[in-house]
Amino acid sequence: MVKNKLDHLAIIMDGNGRWAKQRGLKRTEGHKAGAENVKEIIQLMEKYQIKYLSLYAFSSENWRRSPAEINALMRLLKEFLDGYEVELMKNDIKLLAIGRFEKIPPFARQRLLEVIKSTKNNSKGVLTLCFSYGGREEIVDAAKKVAADVMAGNLNIDSLDESNFTNYLYAPEVPEVDLMIRTSGELRISNFLLWQLAYSEFYVTDKLWPDFDELELNKALNSFYGRERRFGKEQA
Ligand code: FPP
Repeated sequence: MVKNKLDHLAIIMDGNGRWAKQRGLKRTEGHKAGAENVKEIIQLMEKYQIKYLSLYAFSSENWRRSPAEINALMRLLKEFLDGYEVELMKNDIKLLAIGRFEKIPPFARQRLLEVIKSTKNNSKGVLTLCFSYGGREEIVDAAKKVAADVMAGNLNIDSLDESNFTNYLYAPEVPEVDLMIRTSGELRISNFLLWQLAYSEFYVTDKLWPDFDELELNKALNSFYGRERRFGKEQA
């Protein structure tokens, strides 16, 4: 029995490095395969009526990786946008990105902003790339915007609540996450969408991200559909 509706799916795409190592390839080859898989999963949004898909593509902590790996991921972002913009238009998907963009090198940042602009009127689905993103940074940035509004006299501090605080997050139009999938078996949240995951269901699979396919997505969705979501209420 389907008990739940899934509007927003979020994924921590982990395991590219291990996928490459298992094949004797460089880590960057794993990321390349991971980016190819991103395209496969986006294609399934319409079929499974997933309106919002959020992908953790580069965390605020990933800046600590080697310059070579960081460069490869930045190039991959640009290549993904270059090669996939047409598909986003064809599938009527709007691209959003959340994170601290100022750290992304201009060649990739520029493309990101261009594709956000060119897809902004698409309406069937919303793909949010979490890139140079950290959940704590997002909450700190929101708190700064709240403080600025209070100081400017635009907001009465007593009227601040959970509902209007969300307007200060990076992408207020994106609803809370219904299901969060993490690949490659780690049982961690890794600073992902901390505010938006408050009442999400979690699903962890041992599959490495480049191997996460439609069959695996089905397993995760079936697990989600059968769960009882209580949002703090007592059991029915
Ligand atoms: C985690 O695997 C994955 C990342 C840090 C990057 C995720 C990036 C992609 C899937 C490709 C880029 C996507 C786009 C859309 C540009 P890991 O490297 O931590 O793997 P490991 O834990 O096995 O080492």
